[in-house]
Amino acid sequence: MKKKIALLLVAAMTVSSLVACGGAAEEEAPAAATEEVEAPAEEEAAPAEEEAATEEAAPAADGEVVTVGFAQVGHESDWRAANTKNYQDTFSAENGYELSFVDCDNDHAVQIETVRGFIEQELDYICIAPIQSAGWDTVLQEAQDAGIPVLIVDRAVDAADTLYTTALGCDMIAEGEAAGNWLAEYLDGADANILVIEGSVGASATLGRTEGFNNIVAQNSNWKVLDSQSGDFTQAGGQEVMESFIKTYGAGNFNVVVCQNDNEAYGAMDAMDAAGITYGVDGDVQIISFDATHDGLQYTLDGKITCNVECNPLQAGFAEEVIKKLEAGEEVDKWTLVEDQAFVAPGIESQYAVTMSQEVLDGRAY
Ligand code: AHR
Repeated sequence: MKKKIALLLVAAMTVSSLVACGGAAEEEAPAAATEEVEAPAEEEAAPAEEEAATEEAAPAADGEVVTVGFAQVGHESDWRAANTKNYQDTFSAENGYELSFVDCDNDHAVQIETVRGFIEQELDYICIAPIQSAGWDTVLQEAQDAGIPVLIVDRAVDAADTLYTTALGCDMIAEGEAAGNWLAEYLDGADANILVIEGSVGASATLGRTEGFNNIVAQNSNWKVLDSQSGDFTQAGGQEVMESFIKTYGAGNFNVVVCQNDNEAYGAMDAMDAAGITYGVDGDVQIISFDATHDGLQYTLDGKITCNVECNPLQAGFAEEVIKKLEAGEEVDKWTLVEDQAFVAPGIESQYAVTMSQEVLDGRAY
């Protein structure tokens, strides 16, 4: 149900209801993300300003502010920070939205309760970036019963697609396969002893990248995955897992480390630096990473990360397009693919990836 709130006051309210990445998010109770604010008396707003705001904004067909709840995964990575900023910039008061943003700090139970809070508040739309893919049926049914369209964004859920309106994001299986295909091309028949630092347990980004990469492992009989452990998509997690891998397997016994995001790769590099293990195009270990954020691509340009498979975090525009269509009473696709590509260190030519250059890095928006 749309709230009748003057846009100028909504701008102030949205600032107070936004939950920033990081510490502040952890303190915010999910259900309290949006506050009800009484519409002000007409004369309180300067008429000229009010008119201008109404003309500029109002993506809703009827000119009302559109309320959107976003149950975000957390703040585990640089990718996530870019994704959060993109949603906050897109669903801004200036653009005619009231965004209730909740950082769920990688806690599935908190995320479910956050969505319940959005339903209770009767928001117009709910976006969910699912921490884990399982366990969504009940709350999605509740949203459907309440008549609130749900957009599953970034990651996927296991639930039947009749329980949500639309889903959008990158193809995580294809990302894993891109990494594997590049490795096969690069090794050109040489043996691989591989260590994998996975993302968060149960996340579709983890499951998809693992499945995709393993599809290619299965085609290469001289590749061996020695171990595969979760680093929780964090730098600290990547470092901890790599330290334990080094202790267990020892330097010289592995030549490929697959990190399922850039932050884990930074941690893995710290652990290998400390152990005196060389990595990168001129080293003993080749690092494959995912995300291709600005810093991750800087390491790729420097030849430290040999291959970096992108996952594009700039997805809010796709979500807004869906919402605009729904506001206009139009049909929407059940699934929207956010395309991505892979990048490799300078000096490497690949049919699967773009060779990194300063120009590519300079053109990076995140
Ligand atoms: O779901 C996208 C993944 O989640 C990104 O690869 C990772 O950095 C993030 O935490």
